[in-house]
Amino acid sequence: MDVLDCILLTILGAIVVSLFVIIYLKVTMGRCVSKADLSGKTAIVTGANTGIGFYTALDFATRNARVILACRNAGKAKVACDQIRQETGNENVTVGIIDLCSLTSVRKFAEEFLKVERRLDILVNNASVLGLPKEITDEGLESMFAANHFGPFLLTNLLLDLMKKTGRARIITVSSLVNKFGHIDFDNLCAEKSFDRFRIYNDSKLANVIFTKELARRMEGTGVTANCLHPGTIRTDLLRNIPSFVQIPITLFGCLFFKSPDEGAQTSIHCAVSEEMEGVSGRYYCDCRDADKSVNRVAHDLGIAKKLWEISEKYTDLK
Ligand SMILES: NC(=O)c1ccc[n+]([C@@H]2O[C@H](COP(=O)([O-])OP(=O)(O)OC[C@H]3O[C@@H](n4cnc5c(N)ncnc54)[C@H](OP(=O)(O)O)[C@@H]3O)[C@@H](O)[C@H]2O)c1
Ligand SMILES: *[C@@H]1O[C@H](CO)[C@@H](O)[C@H](O)[C@H]1NC(C)=O
Ligand SMILES: *[C@@H]1O[C@H](CO)[C@@H](O)[C@H](O)[C@H]1NC(C)=O
Repeated sequence: MDVLDCILLTILGAIVVSLFVIIYLKVTMGRCVSKADLSGKTAIVTGANTGIGFYTALDFATRNARVILACRNAGKAKVACDQIRQETGNENVTVGIIDLCSLTSVRKFAEEFLKVERRLDILVNNASVLGLPKEITDEGLESMFAANHFGPFLLTNLLLDLMKKTGRARIITVSSLVNKFGHIDFDNLCAEKSFDRFRIYNDSKLANVIFTKELARRMEGTGVTANCLHPGTIRTDLLRNIPSFVQIPITLFGCLFFKSPDEGAQTSIHCAVSEEMEGVSGRYYCDCRDADKSVNRVAHDLGIAKKLWEISEKYTDLK
């Protein structure tokens, strides 16, 4: 066998293995099969102008929900809103402006929402950022951890009373499987000691899981449920802040192996609407299936959960 044969065989082998991997990924990918109708229900989706948030909002609108796209950029949000209205014919889709890095902005959004809306059935905390350089906000928070944890924490708490009144409301927080690599360092939540953008992303995604589980315990008996999920690896703009020499190969690879944003939205939609999720709370989902046994062990620590909740209340001026 000469060198050329060797190379050809290797290439052939790689193609066959890739095909198997692609087929495996497609077969195991969860799809929300529920036909649930959301007429008369109201939903908020943060970060709904692009990526999986957009498809989540589009799906709710198709099911006749009233949908508020909570985004930070009014121009981008309007484009998404018009597109969803046009595709679904649902006129009950509107925009709310929120910058999750800013506690002031979160409060303002909640205040305006509570002034006009009478109910809230679904809250999807989906917005998040990855890979920004270190930036401390005017309010003293590190901006990535603020956008990914403190902002959603405050938003959820401000809307809780209305959700309890609505009854059987569902809170869905988009986490990630990287929660497994996360740590909660209570002395570094605002990057006081050190800053590593991937570490903070991982930590914030672990915080999403811990927050969800503590929230579920606090909501027991109220009818409000809280779950979190890993959406899969998806082709979105999430990588926009990392260098392009890393971005380009990942993007090429992604065309073959990653989910589309529509596919990535399925687990959020499943948790938000499906009948079988009624009453389920405090769990972590992946591919529309319960994957709670795969979360970081830290997420089961009641002491850490209580402490994170209390510190978050302090940092967001809730208490
Ligand atoms: N993509 C993946 O492979 C993957 C894997 C695991 C988990 N996830 C999780 O899935 C979720 C969605 O990710 P994605 O990939 O769809 O991201 P994406 O396409 O980058 O979208 C991010 C969204 O969040 C919004 N956003 C960012 N900072 C904000 C702020 N301070 N205030 C309000 N909105 C803000 C963005 O608005 P602008 O457009 O205005 O910036 C945008 O709508 C995230 O929670 C992410 O952690 C993604
Ligand atoms: C819009 O939502 C409100 C409140 O849920 C509902 O009463 C109304 O019928 C909806 N309008 C349309 C056109 O769906
Ligand atoms: C964060 O998670 C990624 C996996 O997505 C891992 O490769 C990386 O080592 C983690 N970083 C830290 C600092 O824990």
